Amino acid sequence: MSRVVIAPSVLSADFARLADEIARVEAGGADWIHVDVMDGRFVPNLTFGTKVIETVRRATSLPVDVHLMVVEPEKYFDDFAGAGASRLTIHPEVSPHLHRQLTRIRELGCEAGAALNPSTPLTAISEVMAELDLLLIMSVNPGFGGQRFIAASLDKVRRARALLDGAASAAWLQVDGGISRETIADVWDAGADAFVAGNAIFSARDPGAEVEALRARCRVVV
Ligand code: DX5
Ligand code: ZN
Repeated sequence: MSRVVIAPSVLSADFARLADEIARVEAGGADWIHVDVMDGRFVPNLTFGTKVIETVRRATSLPVDVHLMVVEPEKYFDDFAGAGASRLTIHPEVSPHLHRQLTRIRELGCEAGAALNPSTPLTAISEVMAELDLLLIMSVNPGFGGQRFIAASLDKVRRARALLDGAASAAWLQVDGGISRETIADVWDAGADAFVAGNAIFSARDPGAEVEALRARCRVVV
């Protein structure tokens, strides 16, 4: 396995200079731009919606990776797909009709992802493996940037890798929360191939260089 995707989360960017912040990480080799949508109900924080997804879409040619931390996410699928989202990742904890919802995301031309909170077992997605383009393991409780990586996530990532491989799934295995120079190598070793990082990248003096510094810590076996 040799693919490593670094997805800066604009949650930690300077919103007065959003297009510049995106340009810096894109120039530094970022692979996707991660956009965290929060509704103040599923998670205790509010962020952004369609307008910001459109703004990010206009600011970059990279895939726009949208993480929906909202109840009733299907209410937003059409608008977010229309705004230019490349992928919509939803939480099974608030998506009781997960098969239908993932199928709908794909019908709209987006990739479909499922995200699991730290307390949610992998069995939450085991019946929809064929509908998944990405599995996101949350390594913090979602809602805020800059939290500490939960160490027990590593074992969950290992089991998620085995589950995907066992199903011959080509889905990305993404990890989100507390990814930094200190944590990324272990997460890579555990089998993840896509990494969200907000605070580590946008609080760095040179966010573009930080993208490459994170990637360099993933030992690529050729
Ligand atoms: C957390 C969000 C993350 C967040 C990660 O609820 O889903 O994407 O931006 O931020 P860091 O990398 O600062 O933990
Ligand atoms: Zn996220």
